[in-house]
Amino acid sequence: MSSEAVDHDAQVASVREAFEREFERFALFRGEGGADGLALAEAEGLLRELAELRTRHTSKKSPLAQLMKLVGRVPPDERAAFGQRVQAASADIAARLDEAHATLQAYVARLLLERERLDVTLPGRRPRRGHLHPITLMRQRIEDIFVSMGYTVEDGPEVETDFYNFTALNIPELHPARSPQDTFYTTDGLSLRSQTSTVQIHAMQRRRPPLRVIAPGRVFRRDTPDATHNPMFFQLEGLLVDRGITMEHLKGTLSEFVRRMFGPETRTRFRPSYFPFTEPSMEADYSCFKCGGEGCRLCKGSGWIELGGSGMVHPNVLRAVGVDPEEFSGFAFGLGIDRMCGLMYELDDIRLLFENDVRFLEQF
Ligand code: FA5
Repeated sequence: MSSEAVDHDAQVASVREAFEREFERFALFRGEGGADGLALAEAEGLLRELAELRTRHTSKKSPLAQLMKLVGRVPPDERAAFGQRVQAASADIAARLDEAHATLQAYVARLLLERERLDVTLPGRRPRRGHLHPITLMRQRIEDIFVSMGYTVEDGPEVETDFYNFTALNIPELHPARSPQDTFYTTDGLSLRSQTSTVQIHAMQRRRPPLRVIAPGRVFRRDTPDATHNPMFFQLEGLLVDRGITMEHLKGTLSEFVRRMFGPETRTRFRPSYFPFTEPSMEADYSCFKCGGEGCRLCKGSGWIELGGSGMVHPNVLRAVGVDPEEFSGFAFGLGIDRMCGLMYELDDIRLLFENDVRFLEQF
């Protein structure tokens, strides 16, 4: 063996050794499961380093490539043997790189697949919990008080015929309430109810006296919106019809209601008024819950706050539903829920209730 040949063998050995030294940390990654236990980022990092290693040891400028170039230059009798050794080293290095690459690559693919798999045991994202609208809260408070006094909650349509909206409520043919300037009409002559008093008629037809009902609901008027008016708002109607009912029952009922609603000190006062469906009619006021009747900004200095309209059911209304006014009498009242809500929560403007600004609604 010539000294040159020994040199060539030593060169091949040194290329192999240089590779082995660097490849040592990848030697573990062989076969299925060879990379188990690595974190995904770790395995991905190793794959990148392995690619760099491959470039360093197999690219055109690598020591291995230099050896290959040398093959053509060794004496012809040694060329074949040297060429084989270089080839073997090259194939060996490539095989070891390929194996580690395949193992790491398969492992990374497996982890990615697992990460994307749906984990049904993970706790779901909780939807943010909402709450009831302030008008609903107010309506429920009022309902609770009347239900505890033996009233039943009654429902009625929002779109009405002339009979229910006006005629049966003793509203004469030429009354301004019937005018399209006050009431919304559909093209086929129906109207949106402008007060919950329409439910008085439905309730008496459905239940027949004696009865005790409240009817909360949405009503519509062609009112221009301002701080105390909306074209759509909520009222709560009350109706009690029985034998021997007098104005004292009405006054007692509303007085008890405001005491339970605004506190036991609350006083009531009644002022004469007019509604076509009650006779006599009264506006009911209660002493201001904020100042106790002294006069403050809330009650505009008067000490009193308007509760709503009320009165004794007009005999014509009883007759319209076939009830004998000689046998039965009753009282009715109607409260505006939105304005009550505005006062209780000290809103400067009841339009806020329908703007649906979550920052506002969240406060209740
Ligand atoms: C009535 O609607 C009668 N039906 C009440 C009644 C019932 C009287 C039974 C006798 C027997 P009035 O038009 O005053 O009455 O309205 C009652 C309440 O509705 C008012 O006190 C007020 O709180 C509320 N209200 C009236 N118009 C509006 C509006 N545009 N926006 C908000 N609230 C209103």
